Amino acid sequence: MNFNLSEEHKLIRDAARDFAQNELLPGVIERDEKQHFPKELVKKMGDLGFLGVMVDPKYGGSGMDTISYVLIMEELSKVDASASVIVSVNNSLVCYGLEAYGTEEQKEKYLTKLATGEFVGAFCLSEPEAGSDATSQRTTAIDQGDHYLINGTKNWITNGGRADVYIVIAQTDRDKGSHGINAFIVEKGTEGFHIGPKEDKLGIRGSDTHTLQFNDVKIPKTQRIGPNGSGFRFAMKTLSGGRIGIAAQALGIAGGAYELALKYSKQRKAFGTEICNHQAIAFKLADMYTDIEAARMLVMKAAWDKDQGQSYDKSSAMAKLYASQVAMDHTVEAVQIHGGNGFVKEYHVERLMRDAKITQIYEGTSEIQKIVISRSLIRE
Ligand code: CAA
Ligand code: FAD
Repeated sequence: MNFNLSEEHKLIRDAARDFAQNELLPGVIERDEKQHFPKELVKKMGDLGFLGVMVDPKYGGSGMDTISYVLIMEELSKVDASASVIVSVNNSLVCYGLEAYGTEEQKEKYLTKLATGEFVGAFCLSEPEAGSDATSQRTTAIDQGDHYLINGTKNWITNGGRADVYIVIAQTDRDKGSHGINAFIVEKGTEGFHIGPKEDKLGIRGSDTHTLQFNDVKIPKTQRIGPNGSGFRFAMKTLSGGRIGIAAQALGIAGGAYELALKYSKQRKAFGTEICNHQAIAFKLADMYTDIEAARMLVMKAAWDKDQGQSYDKSSAMAKLYASQVAMDHTVEAVQIHGGNGFVKEYHVERLMRDAKITQIYEGTSEIQKIVISRSLIRE
């Protein structure tokens, strides 16, 4: 067992750290305040290979492993979780699904552009009446011979207003339940496809979240991903990898808050000494660091499982469940260590605290992760 990063992994981590510090940090407060999608930065992340980290270079990707992806996600998330969720959705939910299950034609047409950042992708599973209960899809895709007609509403879609390519999950045969669900590629601008207003959110405010409406959207049969009826399993497999990305995001948010809290506690004085010398503060730092390291082990184990070709449904759920709790708990503590300064924007920790909450909700709530983990334990 080797807990050390390879030289290559260290280089990737350092490149992501430099990008986060030099490019993401300068405008992060303003983007959060104005809910500004970081379009130019997305382009730069594409140039660095961050948008198709694990994609085969023959489709324009970086050909790296999941550990590299985790390192990139962690470093970006220490500074800007709005930027990192764009990276996460594009990599895990869009590129992965297309590469693993798409046809050669679909890969040539879409994956090559998504992996380089020329296109941005979105993944559309959630609906007003089907969030956690994802098998209860109300959006329908009716087989019309040579095409499907899609009707329905998707909500909470990340990159919703900015994407070029949307992976849409829909019910093609209600009688077959989860076996009557399919995944489709829908291009922006397709007739009948409407993008609703942007959500005004608590956190990850630079990320673009929209409701999408599909009114008789005509999709050629060649836009279906995988065999007929495989869409729900496609979504679940895709989400297992996605959960590693969000777990790494949570790890980064917690780590970013910890680093700021440590630095502040060594500078700020109260009662004649730096506040880190008060045991109540020192013990918070000890708890933060220990929990972050524990979360890192779970996140890396899930990434390693995926890289080894082993099952990662359970390990990714465990990583997300734990890392998101650590992010929530310790961003609150980071605000506490900053005292009044923690409550204002320029110290960054209040934003990290607001951003942390979403990691317990999207890509399956913490309750859903417990369902995935416990079912797996009982099956084993
Ligand atoms: N791999 C392959 N197949 C799977 C699977 C997996 N990981 N998980 C389930 N399946 C299969 C099951 O084996 C079952 O097949 P059979 O009928 O042949 O046995 C079928 O799928 C249905 O599974 P369940 O009976 O387990 O379905 P369920 O209704 O009990 O729901 C659930 C399972 C785990 C709760 C699932 O609905 C779920 O994950 N919900 C959460 C949805 C979610 O995570 N949404 C995220 C949206 S994307 C997002 O959020 C992005 C973002 O923010 C950035
Ligand atoms: P509900 O399913 O209504 O759950 C409400 C509460 O009940 C939760 O606490 C939940 O854990 C609990 N609950 C539900 N069922 C059970 C159960 N069986 N046992 C125990 N507790 C249960 N979706 C996409 O498809 N694509 C995206 O890009 C995307 N991006 C998002 C971005 C943001 C900012 C947000 C807020 C959401 C995003 N989502 C996206 C949707 C997200 O995945 C869902 O919000 C999430 O899966 C929960 O669904 P829900 O909101 O309908 O909550």
